Amino acid sequence: MSGFWACTTSIFNTVSNSNIQQAVTILRQGGLVAFPTETVYGLGADATNPTAIARIFAAKGRPVDHPVIVHIGSVEQLKDWAREVNPIAQQLAQHFWPGPLTLILPRAPQVSLLLTGGQETIGIRIPRHPIAQELLQAFGKGVAAPSANRFGHVSPTLASHVQQELGDTVDYIIDGGACELGIESTIVDCTSARPRILRPGSITASQINVVIELASITDTAMPRVSGALESHYAPQTPLQIVDAAELNTVVAKLLPQGKKIAVLARQPAFVVEPNLVWIMMSADPNRYSHDLYAQLRAVDALQCGVIIVEAVSMQENWYAINDRLQKAATKRK
Ligand code: TXA
Ligand code: MG
Repeated sequence: MSGFWACTTSIFNTVSNSNIQQAVTILRQGGLVAFPTETVYGLGADATNPTAIARIFAAKGRPVDHPVIVHIGSVEQLKDWAREVNPIAQQLAQHFWPGPLTLILPRAPQVSLLLTGGQETIGIRIPRHPIAQELLQAFGKGVAAPSANRFGHVSPTLASHVQQELGDTVDYIIDGGACELGIESTIVDCTSARPRILRPGSITASQINVVIELASITDTAMPRVSGALESHYAPQTPLQIVDAAELNTVVAKLLPQGKKIAVLARQPAFVVEPNLVWIMMSADPNRYSHDLYAQLRAVDALQCGVIIVEAVSMQENWYAINDRLQKAATKRK
């Protein structure tokens, strides 16, 4: 069944019904379907089929104790996955779904421990991307979907990223163009009385606090120190974050070493050199996150000695970007 490649290069509204039907057939047969969401591309499988779930872990090279998010098409399906949906979770779901928010809830008894990494909780999300919605409605059941990359690599924001990274281990890729947001969903643990953000995303702590009370804004939403972080979302090339004021000095010191250097900056290049690839990033956090993973992949392919990233603002709407940059800067073990 491998090698289906839905090569629709344009945006989602040109994806036809027959693409969706084909994807649904493959899911029903236990196959893997990569599909676009508003955050990143997901690697989907029937969340009730243990063999299909095992194929996700094999394709990604993901450790079995890493839980996978279940994507559903409607709130009515929540009861199939969560034993209990407390008022906090209900309010968050009502306010932010469909959208880039994953809720961690107690798993329903029938939910496979393969999905939850052996834990008693399950991550659930209703994405808002029209193709994801169409697929989930047509399939009618939960779709388990981690980001469609090899474990620890940068998440894919284009269908071509999925194909380059996972190749024939995916049975079908639905091409919906570039993902709107470009970084993974905000994850909120709703299993205790004081909910916490486990992973920052484009929905911020302040936005969540308008709806419910989080355990603590500073504790849950600030980027954590990079030394304490597992390497994740990382390019192969070493990545270093440098303050704006130091950027030119650091680059100027590295250039004579003769290695190619990539720079992701918000200021223009101070010098033009054959060994220097200078990418101008946006000053707008939405645009920055939209572009970040695609740019990291592009510069990673250039086999540079190092990727230098100009540090970004510490304001709240940059938290999720800071979190991903710090993870990318953490050395792989
Ligand atoms: O935006 C997203 O969330 C994308 C799209 C495809 O929906 N998905 C995604 O999945 O980023 P993944 O597997 O790459 O990242 C999910 C994260 C993992 O770090 C996992 O450990 C955490 O969510 N997670 C999943 N279920 C969990 C649970 N029950 N408890 C705690 N963390 C959980
Ligand atoms: Mg991932």
